[in-house]
Amino acid sequence: MMNASALRDAPTLVGERVRLVPLGPEHTDAYFAASLDEEVRRLTGTHRHLTYGQAREWCETRAGRTDRLDLAITAPKDGRYLGELSLYDVSPENESAGYRIALSGIEFAGQGLGREATELVLEHAFDRIGLHRVWLYVYAFNMRAIAVYRSCGFTVEGRLRDALLWEGRRHDALLMAVLRTSLKNT
Ligand SMILES: CC(C)(COP(=O)(O)OP(=O)(O)OC[C@H]1O[C@@H](n2cnc3c(N)ncnc32)[C@H](O)[C@@H]1OP(=O)(O)O)[C@@H](O)C(=O)NCCC(=O)NCCS
Repeated sequence: MMNASALRDAPTLVGERVRLVPLGPEHTDAYFAASLDEEVRRLTGTHRHLTYGQAREWCETRAGRTDRLDLAITAPKDGRYLGELSLYDVSPENESAGYRIALSGIEFAGQGLGREATELVLEHAFDRIGLHRVWLYVYAFNMRAIAVYRSCGFTVEGRLRDALLWEGRRHDALLMAVLRTSLKNT
């Protein structure tokens, strides 16, 4: 059964390369700066431009939510902000949630941060929150993200054709998901 208090009390999850901490007001500047990164915007298909005020409001209102969990990815050594991730659309009835992750700049990619962060979150999602299913959308051109998700146990369940229109070109999105049971069996 799902443990709702595990969502209300956002955890700190510590790995070798990343420390995941509750996203809060202290992350506003870094969160806003990351929202301006053009390559991350392309990879996440983000059309919307955040204002600083919207970023601040977002970071200030993450605590205590029971329908989602938003964590900042930080460096274990010095606490430097490296990105953020979320479990969102949490459905207690179905014991399921959506997942998204974005490092704050492409210079942080390819160092194993995304994989470790995803592994830490999945362990928390399945063992602490009690979720059964975690799903996500990823654009079909985002090979690095797909590689990370596959290695964390996600499999492709479907393709949303022409889901993204980016600078005049259309791109498919993939629906991927991992089940607690399938992860435990591998
Ligand atoms: C997607 C993201 C979270 C992945 O995290 P990361 O720290 O960069 O990834 P890792 O270093 O943990 O792992 C990268 C893996 O992808 C593989 N990879 C990299 N480029 C690849 C490519 N073009 N094709 C296939 N595999 C690729 C690497 O070989 C590595 O796998 P390995 O460890 O088995 O060798 C991160 O790059 C990111 O935030 N990108 C920008 C935003 C984004 O794309 N978010 C996801 C939206 S769905």
